[in-house]
Amino acid sequence: MNTQEIIALDKKYYMNVFGERLPVIFEYGRQSTLYDKEGKAYTDFVAGIAVNVLGYGHPALVEAITSQAQKLLHCSNLFYIEAQAQAAKLLVENSCGDRVFFANSGAEANEGAIKLARKYFYDKGMNKYEIITATNSFHGRTLATLAATGQKKYQKPFIPMPKGFKSVPYNDLEALKKAITPKTCAIMLELIQGESGVIEATYEYVKGVKQLCNEMGILLILDEVQTGMGRTGKLFAYQHFGIQPDIITLAKGLGGGVPIGAIIAKESVASAFDPGSHGSTFGGNPLACAAAIAVITTLLNEGLIDRCAQLGEHFKQRLMYLKDKYPFIKDVRGKGLMLGMELESSVPGKEIVNAALKQGYIINCAGHNTLRFLPPLVITKAEIDGLIDALDGIFQQVLESQGFSLTVKNGAQCRTTA
Ligand SMILES: Cc1ncc(COP(=O)(O)O)c(C=O)c1O
Repeated sequence: MNTQEIIALDKKYYMNVFGERLPVIFEYGRQSTLYDKEGKAYTDFVAGIAVNVLGYGHPALVEAITSQAQKLLHCSNLFYIEAQAQAAKLLVENSCGDRVFFANSGAEANEGAIKLARKYFYDKGMNKYEIITATNSFHGRTLATLAATGQKKYQKPFIPMPKGFKSVPYNDLEALKKAITPKTCAIMLELIQGESGVIEATYEYVKGVKQLCNEMGILLILDEVQTGMGRTGKLFAYQHFGIQPDIITLAKGLGGGVPIGAIIAKESVASAFDPGSHGSTFGGNPLACAAAIAVITTLLNEGLIDRCAQLGEHFKQRLMYLKDKYPFIKDVRGKGLMLGMELESSVPGKEIVNAALKQGYIINCAGHNTLRFLPPLVITKAEIDGLIDALDGIFQQVLESQGFSLTVKNGAQCRTTA
């Protein structure tokens, strides 16, 4: 089938939740490059939205999945599973947590974390169930994670929302303090809000939140679905802050493209999940866990996390160079290879995305008109410099047109969610 035929098929048969998608269909990828059906190459600075941390066709990941598929794809959780136990061990050994539960997605990991926090206090006979989250956060699309997501526009069509959630402004410790009640069981945060435009939590805020949690006996849940797995230049973003959360949630990069989510928790909290409290048919199956093992060991053994930190510095400096040059760039922010460039609202970010795509670069536009860069961690310096040159050329046209007159028909959207 050619590209147009596939698009027509999708439009007829697939639910239209993604609107007008980018009109490219990828056939295969190698390292950080994707090739479309016509053989055109694209350097990928989105990585399946922070998923493909090892890029495309990484031999360690391909070998792990292939050999697991030849042995056993799935086995029910009625039995012990070697890859599951091994993957859990690796996550525990490399984090501040003690026990792991595997889910299938970020939303599902967060849903489980919410249940775990509530069960922890239920077991203690305490009536604490409220979860405080941040405005403009994004925690997923299930009903409870939508309720946790601090963006009314996503909740509205699906009311009533599950009870027990409230959101307060991000990076505002006073607002958080005021929101706490005797019923508060957990504070749930992203350390960098990805979907709303790569907004970073400040060091003081994170330290303050942790202290508040300690003082008030409240659990700290960190949603590292996007920031985890080396993305920010540490295996987990909390490691930048010298704090330890009670619960961490992961997904996206954990399987390098194979769907898997995880909850990691301290022993005292994890033990609240006892037989029957939680479960999943697919969660932690041999295939997904074999992929996770390959991702974690490759990230650690190939020095990809330190490399991410160094390349991220270089990338950020190059983005700053563009910011100094073009007055319509408002801000450059982020850590490691999770970077954002906020544009004046008069410059339509989605058209920059389309213009970059035409030049063979995949970028994304998130909330607050922010270009978001989340390349595979195997991206090279030369590829980053290539993107900067391409953006330089595109921004020059923006400047010359005194406004924005790049005409691109098929529209990328400034997505606020993944
Ligand atoms: C921080 C964060 N949490 C949760 C999710 C939901 O993950 P999933 O789409 O795998 O359910 C996302 C997705 O973008 C995310 O960025």
